[in-house]
Amino acid sequence: MTTSDTATERTLVIVKPDGVARNLVGEVLRRVEAKGYSIVALELRTADTDLLARHYAEHEDKPFFASLVEFMVSGPVVAAIVEGHGVIEGFRSLAGSTKPTSAAPGTIRGDLGREWGSAVVQNIVHGSDSPESAAREIGLWFPAL
Ligand code: TYD
Ligand code: MG
Repeated sequence: MTTSDTATERTLVIVKPDGVARNLVGEVLRRVEAKGYSIVALELRTADTDLLARHYAEHEDKPFFASLVEFMVSGPVVAAIVEGHGVIEGFRSLAGSTKPTSAAPGTIRGDLGREWGSAVVQNIVHGSDSPESAAREIGLWFPAL
């Protein structure tokens, strides 16, 4: 194992509008804390399309982009900076794979996610996918930190 696997790092976690609407904020944060990660910033807010378009800029050419942004601004989200050893990969493991139907039981998306038949996958949480993404996303959501 290289030291980079377990380095203390920060990731951006978002409980998406479906997670907030279904009262799953506590459940998501409980799993984060139970794993041993620390919440170092936390905010409930309804984001605007400009922020979401920048957040999901890597997907701007995808067919689901417009409906993804529309979904993400449809209600309040909880954004958190989460810190811990290997937390970027570790939170992605807690979250499970993108599609709730194929996400493993035991993961947030596998245990709690639903397929709603909408144009966009509503899978409860976002987690940064790399150190570069984490730094960029934390800068977007928490510019003062
Ligand atoms: P992506 O970054 O591929 O997934 P993840 O959230 O696991 O990093 O996609 C971002 C979000 O876009 C994803 O959480 C749900 C939505 N999405 C769709 O609605 N349809 C799709 O086919 C994909 C790939 C993603
Ligand atoms: Mg992603």
